[in-house]
Amino acid sequence: SSEKSLSITIEQNPSPASEAHRQSILQDPGFGKVFTDHMLLIRYSEEKGWHDAHIKPYGNISLDPAVCVFHYAQEIFEGLKAYKAKDGRILLFRPEANAQRFINSAKRMAMAPLPEAYFLQAIHEFVKMEQNWIPDQSVGTLYLRPFMIASTPYLGVKASPDYLFMLIASPAGSYFSKGAKPVTVWVSEFYTRAASGGTGEAKCGGNYAASLLAQQEATKNGCDQLVFLDAAEHKWIEEMGGMNIFFVMDDGSLLTPPLSGTILPGVTRNSIITLAKEKGLTVREDRYSAEQWIKDIQSGKIREVFACGTAAVVTPIGFVKNKDGEYQIHDGNPGKLTQEIHKMLVDIQYGNAPDTHNWVKEV
Ligand code: COI
Repeated sequence: SSEKSLSITIEQNPSPASEAHRQSILQDPGFGKVFTDHMLLIRYSEEKGWHDAHIKPYGNISLDPAVCVFHYAQEIFEGLKAYKAKDGRILLFRPEANAQRFINSAKRMAMAPLPEAYFLQAIHEFVKMEQNWIPDQSVGTLYLRPFMIASTPYLGVKASPDYLFMLIASPAGSYFSKGAKPVTVWVSEFYTRAASGGTGEAKCGGNYAASLLAQQEATKNGCDQLVFLDAAEHKWIEEMGGMNIFFVMDDGSLLTPPLSGTILPGVTRNSIITLAKEKGLTVREDRYSAEQWIKDIQSGKIREVFACGTAAVVTPIGFVKNKDGEYQIHDGNPGKLTQEIHKMLVDIQYGNAPDTHNWVKEV
């Protein structure tokens, strides 16, 4: 296989969703529940490299029960979106950043890295094929989920020599059922997400599996999401269950936890830092303790808090809960800067504002 481009064979779905059914889904898709008519697969083996790239009807896949991924969780994924511009153009947002992070995740999990050119080609060809599944701007986006699994049947604990890359797509509205309303977060004192030297920086399924029990604890405590503290001291704010976090201080500056190696280097996080700095705001990537956070909420030093991620976009956080009590951030409503940053970002993503960073790629 040459590194330049793949030859992707296409098997059309003979019975795609009806126009009426698709339209009804596109009105109110929710998040991650419905999938498009096709899926894309690429195989890897040590002998052949990347080969057998094909698009076929969406459906079940058959795997030997002994394949490595089922036993030792050698798996990585990405999340990105296709946006429909008002003029009908189909846009991707910084897909190269996802391709690069997918390579980094693969390396950390001792998997074969999918070359950036193949990743981008797969995304472009697949989105073109599934374009009638992209919701209108007023509803949302087409969420793209590339992932890769270890596919050799073998029970030894060792890197698999074979991999299966797949790409599926799901029309998406808001990640949180509350829509743009502020969410309540739970500070988990016991559970942590990733330790130094671990896989926190990689987008591997295991990190998210590890977050589920903590998320259940958050839900039991009436919260929408959780905030993880660092594994060494259970003190420093790291990230949320599946998104990064930003604080807006009373002097108008932004603060977000640094990329210490244990948190996910978010594409949205990085884009927000860039946009905020260009707006003339001070952005600090610094450690911030949960204890200081609560003190700063009580003294009024914290003005706004928001979560960010591809799925969550920019979601205001209105309340924080821990074992000692519940704290309202400012007046509990979405903050002014949170809303401004949200708008700046989505205007670029949907093609409603000039893209001065070459972030937007037309399909
Ligand atoms: C994202 O795409 O933003 C994710 O990190 C995955 C998950 C939280 C839906």
